[in-house]
Amino acid sequence: MKATILTLPGDGIGPEVTQAAVEVLKVVGTRFGHAFRMIEGLIGGAALRQGLPPLPDGTLDSARKADAILLGAVGDPSFDTGDSSRRPESALLALRSALGLYANLRPARVWPGLEHDGPLKPSVLEGTDLLVVRELTGGLYYGEPRGRAGDGQSAVNTMRYSRAEIERIAHVAFRSARGRRRRVTSVDKANVLEVSRLWREIVTETARAYADVTLDHMYVDACAMKLALAPASFDVVLTENLFGDILSDEAGAIVGSLGLLPSASLGKGPGLFEPVHGSAPDIAGRGIANPIGAIASAAMLLAHGLGLEDEARAVTAAIEDALRAGIRSADLAGQEKAASTREVTAAILGALTSRPT
Ligand code: IPM
Ligand code: MN
Repeated sequence: MKATILTLPGDGIGPEVTQAAVEVLKVVGTRFGHAFRMIEGLIGGAALRQGLPPLPDGTLDSARKADAILLGAVGDPSFDTGDSSRRPESALLALRSALGLYANLRPARVWPGLEHDGPLKPSVLEGTDLLVVRELTGGLYYGEPRGRAGDGQSAVNTMRYSRAEIERIAHVAFRSARGRRRRVTSVDKANVLEVSRLWREIVTETARAYADVTLDHMYVDACAMKLALAPASFDVVLTENLFGDILSDEAGAIVGSLGLLPSASLGKGPGLFEPVHGSAPDIAGRGIANPIGAIASAAMLLAHGLGLEDEARAVTAAIEDALRAGIRSADLAGQEKAASTREVTAAILGALTSRPT
């Protein structure tokens, strides 16, 4: 197939891990006979440094025209100013909103060979394989009114959800559960928030069309605790924007490192694929970032963005082979000698080319 993939390396470790994922996509293209055209765009601090807004018009245009988008990370402490519309992160929020990417899928599972790498006892971690379905274009991130109020000494953000927004993300969660263990845990704060009570009502209603899927509800505080105590008990975790942001970082830590987690953000048009980790300015440019989150995001791009399931499976299998062979980036290495971003990528590329297609 022919496909145009827009890459947005962004800030911090974004360019390093995006480069790794691009190499993997190129090898997949060659091995499976696809013509992937890769084009690159500016976003976040990388755009601000060129005197452009965080989401330049040209980037948004290319994003709309692309078949899929691969993003590295945005966030740069040198642009941490008071004006939130000039922060690098605002570009990602604007891009998600402009493309209508309301469904954010964040799978977290124990990779083979990493059963002992997380902070939990291996017996607790065993069998963990969950999917956070995070609503991505509503809630506190976008609700109006927002901003500093009065004399600037108070501030407001608004959590708002409509029936339509809740219904469409609930459908995504139930459909995802059908391809998994058929369980959805909807996470809210319905003991306190009106928005959560509406959320719970509509999710319960939507569940009626999925009699083969089991639904339960959990408060977000209880869910945060249960994730640490019994992560393997979860299948699909359905939740709103901010809760999903927080719980997915927790899920990353539990399975060994946030550096492992990929994500897909889907709507009607092209999907956006990015590792869950941020720009990690403390390690940027040192060549030690874990590229697996980005490479696994490339696998999600193949599956969800381009419908290339076999190709996605080949990438996932190559990551597993490399991990089984013992390669560990610094976030996972512990006492062992850490492999660089390049070494991890080379191991995955090696595994990819030595597997039969
Ligand atoms: C994420 C990030 C973003 C978010 C930031 C960078 C705006 O933390 O994708 O999880 O909060 O959604
Ligand atoms: Mn986050």
